Amino acid sequence: MTILSATLARVKPSPTVSVTTLAQELKAAGRDVIGLGVGEPDFDTPDHIKAAAIAAIEAGKTKYTAPDGMPELKAAICKKFARENGLSYTPSQISVSSGGKQVLYNALMATLNPGDEVVIPAPYWVSYPDMVLLAGGTPVVVECGIEAGFKMTPEQLEAAITPKTKWLIFNSPSNPTGAGYTRGELKALTDVLMRHPHVWVMSDDMYEHLVFDDFTFATPAEVEPGLYERTLTVNGVSKAYAMTGWRIGYAGGPEELIAALRKIQSQSTTNPCTISQWAAVAALEGPQDFLAGNAKIFQRRRDLVVSLLNEAPGVSCPVPEGAFYVYPSIAGCIGKSAPDGTLITDDETFCRALLEATGVAVVFGAAFGVSPNFRVSYATSDEELTTACTRIREFCAALT
Ligand SMILES: Cc1ncc(COP(=O)(O)O)c(C=O)c1O
Repeated sequence: MTILSATLARVKPSPTVSVTTLAQELKAAGRDVIGLGVGEPDFDTPDHIKAAAIAAIEAGKTKYTAPDGMPELKAAICKKFARENGLSYTPSQISVSSGGKQVLYNALMATLNPGDEVVIPAPYWVSYPDMVLLAGGTPVVVECGIEAGFKMTPEQLEAAITPKTKWLIFNSPSNPTGAGYTRGELKALTDVLMRHPHVWVMSDDMYEHLVFDDFTFATPAEVEPGLYERTLTVNGVSKAYAMTGWRIGYAGGPEELIAALRKIQSQSTTNPCTISQWAAVAALEGPQDFLAGNAKIFQRRRDLVVSLLNEAPGVSCPVPEGAFYVYPSIAGCIGKSAPDGTLITDDETFCRALLEATGVAVVFGAAFGVSPNFRVSYATSDEELTTACTRIREFCAALT
């Protein structure tokens, strides 16, 4: 008889653990390891945001707030949605949590019954399918290959929807591919959703501000106002404001759903950290001009990484529209052997052999639902990126 629940048995351990553990072991053994695995900006949180948190502590703003966020932050979020997305929400339509991750989790816990299906385009952020499973639902994974720019077509969406579909989880720009849907591509998907009124949309807009070239970010409820009543628009300060550790994410949506999220949070974690909420007010209400500057830095790094990776034999790296990831295919490396005799059978063996041979840690594609690929997070310095990509090229060139 086990102490563990049947629900837990539905969830798999994180598939990214094996490479991360190996990287830590190699580092502890004194090896020169370059980690391109973490999904967070390498910039520091801006000073005016830190100052707001320090001022909150000094002013004694260190007590509980309303469980799903204090009024000052909800007001700042309403203004942000109006200013940047043309979306009109009132404070009672806003939920604030300890990271976007908790918002997504609360929403799935609040809405899924056994047998409910959730459409998840792959490559997907690793947490989506397992959160759906934890909440008792069934993930319906739609594979979107490199030839389609890792984007779901309207036909694929139409085919994935059944009478049991409750949600589509939509993420643009995407973790792990960086792929961003243009307004036109998004409209084609929302047209499908308009024909299926029982399907809701959870739009994960976490990488909204990290878009490149002339790409313009768009979100479903903005592109198709007819979906406003069944869309949860999720965002947060982690990626745009380099605030991953502060743990503030939020969403706007219909009042009934937001009340359900509040109920769950009031019985689990209560309010997100009060001091972080004051920091998030400063982030959303303070200067926004540095966001474009950061995006320019990431765009330069993207260009560097894409061009270096495309020099590696057997690797093909598309140019993504946003985020700070690339997701190259290694189809041309499968079936080859490394100098130590390791046969590269799939992307997990590739990433393991790459790490052991060169000290470069990347995450294998199977973790994100589309293979054979790997994910590079390029949120690090040009020097590290150049060294890492050179090692990847040399590793691939040595495969026979
Ligand atoms: C696509 C996506 N959504 C949500 C999150 C969660 O962000 P946070 O919980 O830090 O707000 C992440 C973080 O990696 C992400 O990549």
